Amino acid sequence: MIRAVDVIRKKRDGVPLADDEIDYFLKGCCSGDIPDYQTAAFLMATYFRGMNEKEVFSLTDSMVRSGKVVDLSGIKGTKVDKHSTGGVADTTTLVVCPLVASCGAPIAKMSGRGLGHTGGTLDKLEAIPGMKVSLTLDEFVNIVNSVGISIISQTDDLVPADKKLYSLRDVTATVDSIPLIASSVMSKKIAGGSDVIVLDVKVGKGAFMKDLKDAMALAKMMVNIGETSGRRTVAVLTDMNQPLGRAIGNSLEVIEACEALKGRGPSELMEVCLALGSYMLILAGIAQSFDIASKMLQDALVSGRGMDKLKEMVKAQGGDINALEDYSLLPQAKIKYELKAQEDFYISELDAEKLGLCAMKLGAGRAKKEDKIDLAVGMVINKKVGDYVNSGESVVTIHGNDERLVEEVLPEIKSAVKTSKQKVAKGKLIHAVVQRGLTQFL
Ligand code: URA
Ligand code: CA
Repeated sequence: MIRAVDVIRKKRDGVPLADDEIDYFLKGCCSGDIPDYQTAAFLMATYFRGMNEKEVFSLTDSMVRSGKVVDLSGIKGTKVDKHSTGGVADTTTLVVCPLVASCGAPIAKMSGRGLGHTGGTLDKLEAIPGMKVSLTLDEFVNIVNSVGISIISQTDDLVPADKKLYSLRDVTATVDSIPLIASSVMSKKIAGGSDVIVLDVKVGKGAFMKDLKDAMALAKMMVNIGETSGRRTVAVLTDMNQPLGRAIGNSLEVIEACEALKGRGPSELMEVCLALGSYMLILAGIAQSFDIASKMLQDALVSGRGMDKLKEMVKAQGGDINALEDYSLLPQAKIKYELKAQEDFYISELDAEKLGLCAMKLGAGRAKKEDKIDLAVGMVINKKVGDYVNSGESVVTIHGNDERLVEEVLPEIKSAVKTSKQKVAKGKLIHAVVQRGLTQFL
C-alpha cells in the first residue's frame, strides 16, 4: 500500500518516485484524501530535490488526467498552440497568433490572466468592448473552423490539479521550481488539445528563470514532456531583462498589437513574433524552413492579412472591431504623465520586473488572483536599452486613473531606469532554440 508520508520521505531523501506513487499522491491531494500539509511538504521536497524526466512526465500525465482533455478533433488540420512563461510588455500572442492563422495554421488557444508583474492575454482581449472570452467548446471549435483562430479562457475542468497545486505553491514559496513549472505549463498545454506547442521561455530579471542555465533546463524539460506526449514541441529562449515591447497594460497592449499588425511594431516585439511564428508554421507542416516561414509571416504582415485575421476573431467573439482602428473606443486613462530626462544619456537598463510591478500597482495587474484590474492604465516605454535620450525627452508615459497611485509609483519607475553617459550595446534578444534532440544557441 502506498502512503503519503512514505512518498514524501522518498522525495525528501532524493529517491526517484515511481509512476504509481506520483499518481497516488496527485489523486489524493485533489480529492482531499491527502491533507494540504502533506502536499505542502511534498512540494517543498520536490523544490529541493527536483525531479528527473521520467518523474516529471509522470506528474504531468497525472495532472492532465485530473480533468478533461479538450477534444479538438472537430477542427480540421494541425492545431497549433503557443505559450509564454510570463513576460512584461509582451503582447506577442495578439500579434503572432493572427499572423500564423492567416498563413493557414488553425489556432485554438486557451489563455490565462495576468498575475503579479506579468500580463495575461485574456485581460488584454477584455479591453476590447464586447469581447467574450468564455465560450462553450462548440462555439470555440466553430470559430476556429470558420475563422481559423479563437482565443478563450481555460475551462474550469482543464487540469484542476494545477489550480490546487498552484494555490499551495503560491503560499509555500515553491512556485519557482523547474519541474513544478514544467508540469504546470505542459499539463495545461497538453489538456488544451493542440498538436503543436511552441514555447516562449523567458530569461532574465523579469522572468521566473533569471539565468540561461535554468531557462535551458526548463525548456528541455518542457520539450521532453511535450514530445513524450506525442505533441511536436519547440522552445525558444527569449530575453526578459527589459520589457519586450513598449506598452504595459491592457488597453495599451491591444493598441501595440494592432500597430504591430499594421506594420508599425517595435523591433524587439516583431523579432520574437517572427521567431515563434516561424516555428509554429514549421511544426504545423505549412513551411519547410525557417526562411520560408519567416517570409510567409512577413507577407501576412505587409498585406494586412494578419490584422484582418485579428478583426475576424474579435468580431466572431462579439468584440467591437472599430476599437481596433479608433483606439479612443478602448478604455482610456484620465492622467497621462511624462517622465522626462533631466539630462542627456543612454538607457543602460530597464528593470522589467519593477516596471511590471509598477503597472500592477497602477491597477493594470493583480497582486492576488481575486484582485480587480483597470484595463485603461499602465505605461508606455518610449526609450529602450541602448537608446540615446536628449534632456527633456520623455522616457516613460504613465497612464493612470488615480493621482495618488501615479505619485506612488513614480520613484519606483525612476529607479527601474538606469542610465549611462557611455554608449550601451543592445542585449541579445533570442538566446537559443530547443527542439527534440537538438539545442541550438544563437
Ligand atoms: N505559468 C504556469 O502556468 N505555471 C507555473 O507554474 C508558472 C508559470
Ligand atoms: Ca542633447
